[in-house]
Amino acid sequence: MIELVRYVDRPDLRARRREELNQFPEYLNHNAMGSKYWGRLYDDFPDFQLALVDEGDLLAEVHALTLTVHAEEMPRGWDEAFERGMESGGGNVASLLAISVKAAARGRGLPKLLIDGVRGVARERELDAVIAPVRPTLKDRYPLIPIERYMTWRREDGSHFDPWLRTHERLGAAIVAAAPDSMLIEASVTEWEEWTGMRLPDNGTYVVPGMLAPLEVQDGVGAHVEPNVWVRHEVPA
Ligand SMILES: CC(C)(COP(=O)(O)OP(=O)(O)OC[C@H]1O[C@@H](n2cnc3c(N)ncnc32)[C@H](O)[C@@H]1OP(=O)(O)O)[C@@H](O)C(=O)NCCC(=O)NCCS
Repeated sequence: MIELVRYVDRPDLRARRREELNQFPEYLNHNAMGSKYWGRLYDDFPDFQLALVDEGDLLAEVHALTLTVHAEEMPRGWDEAFERGMESGGGNVASLLAISVKAAARGRGLPKLLIDGVRGVARERELDAVIAPVRPTLKDRYPLIPIERYMTWRREDGSHFDPWLRTHERLGAAIVAAAPDSMLIEASVTEWEEWTGMRLPDNGTYVVPGMLAPLEVQDGVGAHVEPNVWVRHEVPA
């Protein structure tokens, strides 16, 4: 039976999560806010760090926090939401930071259980909404297309072109804004070469497999700005 648990109650699962669930490209583990705040999430927002487990099999997880958002004015992106949430320690909305489903368990609708879990906590706390800076999963095939355009792409049946945005919409979320500069990752060219497995011999703009937008290299430093899409889920009454 699949159970939704808090990592704070299951340190055994927390010890396994990085190896079993972290399937993000390596460079995403080196953004400034994550390095600064990730460990504190479990202490500051224990009710929002949740995992799905089936008889000891760690299937999926969500990390989220709360912050203050007025009306539809979204934070600039992931970095700002994370920093504001950690620095203010509370607020009127919950923001998802990351959802991960292990590869063998994808396509079974597990994100619904995680998002419903966060929405449930948000309802208990009487929060206004659950927002998310979504990382569209197919955007890496279109790294040169601006996110403002990509987020409008629809299939013939009207459903969203991007599978991950489609899931959010299917669960009732509305797309509210583009976040063209959601997350900044800046590091030396040597580090970028290690993370991407590519040689980066010169200054210039590089298209890197798996990245949602290009990598800019200038004088030994690589900078990547990840674009996301803000969505908003209502909290059940
Ligand atoms: C993004 C992610 C959480 C989605 O999880 P999921 O379990 O595939 O989600 P869903 O079951 O709701 O399916 C989402 C869509 O992707 C499709 N899909 C993705 N992977 C699939 C797979 N391995 N098998 C079948 N379908 C898959 C689903 O069919 C569905 O599309 P549909 O609308 O045509 O049905 C998961 O792919 C993941 O963990 N990716 C790596 C981390 C990441 O990028 N997280 C998101 C940023 S926070």
